Amino acid sequence: MEKILTGIRSTGSPHLGNILGVIIPSIFMANKNMKHYSFIFIADLHSMVQIENIETIRNNTYQIAAAWLAFGLNVDNCLLYRQSDVSLVTELAWYFNCFYPYKRLTLAHAFKEKEVDKTKISVGLFTYPILMAADILLYNAKIVPVGKDQLQHIEIARRIANYFNKKVGEKLFVLPNALLQKNMFVIGTDGKKMSKSKKNCINIFSSNEVLKKQIMGIRTDSKSVKEKKNPETDYIISLYSLIASLDQTEIMKKKYIRGGYGYYDAKIELYEHIIHKFSSEREKFFSFMKNKSLLDKILSVGAKKARNIAHERLNCIRKHLKFNYIT
Ligand code: TRP
Repeated sequence: MEKILTGIRSTGSPHLGNILGVIIPSIFMANKNMKHYSFIFIADLHSMVQIENIETIRNNTYQIAAAWLAFGLNVDNCLLYRQSDVSLVTELAWYFNCFYPYKRLTLAHAFKEKEVDKTKISVGLFTYPILMAADILLYNAKIVPVGKDQLQHIEIARRIANYFNKKVGEKLFVLPNALLQKNMFVIGTDGKKMSKSKKNCINIFSSNEVLKKQIMGIRTDSKSVKEKKNPETDYIISLYSLIASLDQTEIMKKKYIRGGYGYYDAKIELYEHIIHKFSSEREKFFSFMKNKSLLDKILSVGAKKARNIAHERLNCIRKHLKFNYIT
C-alpha cells in the first residue's frame, strides 16, 4: 500500500483555504481509498519557527485536530498524530542536516525570500526543509499532497533520499512525489492567497460575530447598491462559488449584473451560507474543543502507532550509519 503523508502547521485554527484545499481532499483519500494509507500529522515542531509561545502552538494543535475530526476523518483507517509526539523525526533530521550542503539550503525559497533581517531569524527556519524531509522519509511516504509553495521542499526530500540510497547502495528511502493540490489556492478577503500571515482569512470555526466581521472585511469596489456589478472581478462571489452550488452561484451572478443588489447583501448571503453549510462541522468542532482530553487520547493513539513504525525505520537507518540499535 502506498503511503500518503499530509502535514499541516499549527499556526492558527484552520481557515477556509486549509479546509477546502487540504482537509476535505485528504479526508476523501484517507477514508475512501483502499489503495493508500494516510499519515496525517500536525506539524507543531515546524510551527515553533513562527510562534514562540508553546501554549499557543498547543492550542492551535487542538484546533487543527478538532477540524480534521469535525470534517469526518476516520482515525481507524489512518494515522492522525502530533509531530512532536514522534520526536524520532528530529534524530533523522539531524542526520540529514549533517550532509546537506549549507550553500544549497541557502537557496531554498522559504529562507531566501523571507523579508526579514537574516541576522534575526532562527536556525530552525533555515533548516525547516530538512525537518520536512525527515517527516516524509521517516515513513517512506510516496505521495505528499502540497500546494505550489511546497514543491521545492519535496524536491529537497527527493534529493536527500537519492543521496542516502546511493551512499548505502540500496533503496533505504522511497522517493516521494508531490501531489499538487490545485484547489489549495483559495483567495482571501483581499483577493490574495488566503494565509494566516496576510490576515485575510475566513475562519469557519470562529464565533458567529468574528466570522461575520471577517466576511464584512472582504474587499470590494465602491459601487452603490443600485449600480450593476461585475461578478467576474469580485471576491465575494469567488468565495461563494467555492462552497455554493453552480446554480446558487449563477443566481448571485445574475443579481450582480442586474443591479439593485449591494455588496453588503452578498456578504450576508455568503455568511449565512457558511453558517448553514458547515453547521454540523462547527457543532462537532466546538464540542471537541470542549473536550481536549478526548483530543489528547485520539492523538496519542495515532502517535503510538506512528512511533512504532518510526522506531523500526529509524533503527534500520541507524544500522546503516553504524549506530547502535535503540530499544
Ligand atoms: N511545510 C508544510 C506547510 O507549511 C507543512 C509540513 C511540514 C509538511 N512537514 C510536512 C507538509 C511534510 C507535507 C509533508 O504547509
